[in-house]
Amino acid sequence: MAGLLVSGTDTGVGKTVITGGLVALFRSTGKDVTAMKPLQTGVSGFSPEADAYFYQQMGSPLSPGQCTTYVMEEPLAPWVAARRQGITLDRQKILDHYSNLAARYTGVLVEGAGGLAVPLLDSQYTTVHLARDLGIPILLVARAGLGTVNHTVLSVEYARQHGVDVIGVILNEYSGHSVAERTNKEVIETMSGLPVLGRVPPLEDLQDRQSVVAVLNSCLDSNYIWQVMNNAA
Ligand SMILES: Nc1ncnc2c1ncn2[C@@H]1O[C@H](COP(=O)(O)OP(=O)(O)OP(=O)(O)O)[C@@H](O)[C@H]1O
Ligand SMILES: [Mg+2]
Repeated sequence: MAGLLVSGTDTGVGKTVITGGLVALFRSTGKDVTAMKPLQTGVSGFSPEADAYFYQQMGSPLSPGQCTTYVMEEPLAPWVAARRQGITLDRQKILDHYSNLAARYTGVLVEGAGGLAVPLLDSQYTTVHLARDLGIPILLVARAGLGTVNHTVLSVEYARQHGVDVIGVILNEYSGHSVAERTNKEVIETMSGLPVLGRVPPLEDLQDRQSVVAVLNSCLDSNYIWQVMNNAA
């Protein structure tokens, strides 16, 4: 069984697009992979804005209700949203949910909420603690352009401080139009010591699974990601 926690340098950097895209890519090569979003905020019930809808569009076999542990209405860090809504978040419930999926699928991609230092269950329990509890490494999704070196290097250092492995970085919505975009891969690799596993361009039609798979196949080495996920297990 292989597991990977897809986190990012920020909210809105493309974690859902990469998570769903990887599910589609892995499944296109015959791997029985699913995605999970343990803590979904900013949606009411399972409205189509929930990240899990995109996983399903990308071929994940689970409904949003089956792959999301908690849903909270306000677009806030889970700990804050839960407190305001009067919800008690149970760590064991999330871990059991993951174990259940891990027993049924050959791979589980877990999407975090926001970035690595976002408080999930309380002020001392962030995304890195979840990755550590699940025993899985992190894949970091980052913006492609100016400002991403700082966010990426700080995120990697934060994970390391907490003893959690980061397998690499994906630079998302890469157009190559600016010097910063063209030089960021080398700068990030040199400074972090981690590989940039792909530079993903803006995808024209996110509803079209086949074209998402084709584009990701051309810019990501999914075999490498699969190997690292399995070796870390
Ligand atoms: N490569 C891409 N091509 C086209 N659109 C993209 C791409 N990556 C992200 N987007 C768009 O950017 C927005 C944010 O992406 P996404 O929802 O994946 O971010 P996120 O990191 O999962 O955010 P959250 O923290 O809310 O979970 C979405 O509207 C998504 O469709
Ligand atoms: Mg998301």
